[in-house]
Amino acid sequence: MADIRYGIIGCGNIARAHMWAIKNGNGITCAGITDRIPEHAKLLNEEFGGGFRIFDSAEDMVNSPDIDAVILAVPNYQHQPMFELAAAHGKHILCEKPLTMTVEQGEHMVETAHKYGVKTQMGLCTRFEPYVDAMMDHIQAGNLGDIYFARTDVLRMRGTPTGWFGNKEKSGGGPLIDIGVHFIDACWYLMGKPKPVRVKALNYAAIANKYPKGVDIYSSFEKDTVYNVEDSSHGIITFENGAGLMYQAAWAINSESVDERLELYGTKGGLIKMPCTLIREEVSGMTTTSIQAKDDDCYKLQLEDFARVIKGEKESRTPVEDGLAVQKMLNGLYRSAREGREVDI
Ligand SMILES: NC(=O)c1ccc[n+]([C@@H]2O[C@H](COP(=O)([O-])OP(=O)(O)OC[C@H]3O[C@@H](n4cnc5c(N)ncnc54)[C@H](O)[C@@H]3O)[C@@H](O)[C@H]2O)c1
Repeated sequence: MADIRYGIIGCGNIARAHMWAIKNGNGITCAGITDRIPEHAKLLNEEFGGGFRIFDSAEDMVNSPDIDAVILAVPNYQHQPMFELAAAHGKHILCEKPLTMTVEQGEHMVETAHKYGVKTQMGLCTRFEPYVDAMMDHIQAGNLGDIYFARTDVLRMRGTPTGWFGNKEKSGGGPLIDIGVHFIDACWYLMGKPKPVRVKALNYAAIANKYPKGVDIYSSFEKDTVYNVEDSSHGIITFENGAGLMYQAAWAINSESVDERLELYGTKGGLIKMPCTLIREEVSGMTTTSIQAKDDDCYKLQLEDFARVIKGEKESRTPVEDGLAVQKMLNGLYRSAREGREVDI
């Protein structure tokens, strides 16, 4: 069957990860790019060797018969309008994380996808990390028994992105919705997607100098000067089955940087990532087994997988409905932090 022809809307940082993924992937091709700032599209085209079709606008792209699916690589406040534009033109949609900024918007997006019958997938790419697959193999083999608690940390000592990420009107929030989303989602997925019922969060904007000497600044293409989101978020999600998930997400914190700490505790075994290890009680006592995972690019695996979904060969691993479920957890956590209490979701 012919390659799935992706069009990329938004030519900033994450578009580069998608361009690499398509370049190295099988059964997928980049049939065009567009950005509302034409220079961004031109630069991306040049960086990847030139020759890519540059559409004048997202509208122009979704009207083209040469595009099967779009990748929404635009800031969070543009997810809903671009998603609904693409759906109304019958284009399948890979929506970058988070789904959007509010639950109401997310519900409308899911309804719109159903209305137009397009296939959708969330850019929750951590689910495609080979180590997550390896963890899932052990969970499905029963090596953990019942998982009753998980913990995840993603902490940047100083790694506050510039631009729209800090403006709540455009992002919906700070590190919780930006980087926490990946690992909260990965834990939830590995736990078997239990129903979330209550959340409690504490959010802080406590670090005065976000960009001290030698810091790692994540610079976005879309500029903005407003900063009104949290620097760090710390909280807990409780599920209907009694299980819990504790997380920390920070762009700036006086701690060590932690790329992605993931721990799952089960009645028969545990799994931790950093490095990936299975912990079990055996006849001779406690054992730790290191888990090997293949080295592969989660963005490539995600786009190849969505191509198979579009071709009708399989169901999506990251359906947009899961994006909405995660959105409800995120927005519940923000509400809890604002109201200073645990809230039902
Ligand atoms: N999966 C991941 O690991 C990951 C990593 C980084 C960012 N993201 C997500 O990707 C999205 C984009 O983030 P980024 O870091 O690339 O931002 P960015 O600011 O670097 O790039 C965004 C680009 O979109 C363009 N744009 C804005 N509105 C547009 C519109 N309506 N039509 C066309 N172009 C438009 C901007 O001009 C800019 O070039 C966000 O939702 C972010 O959360 C995901």
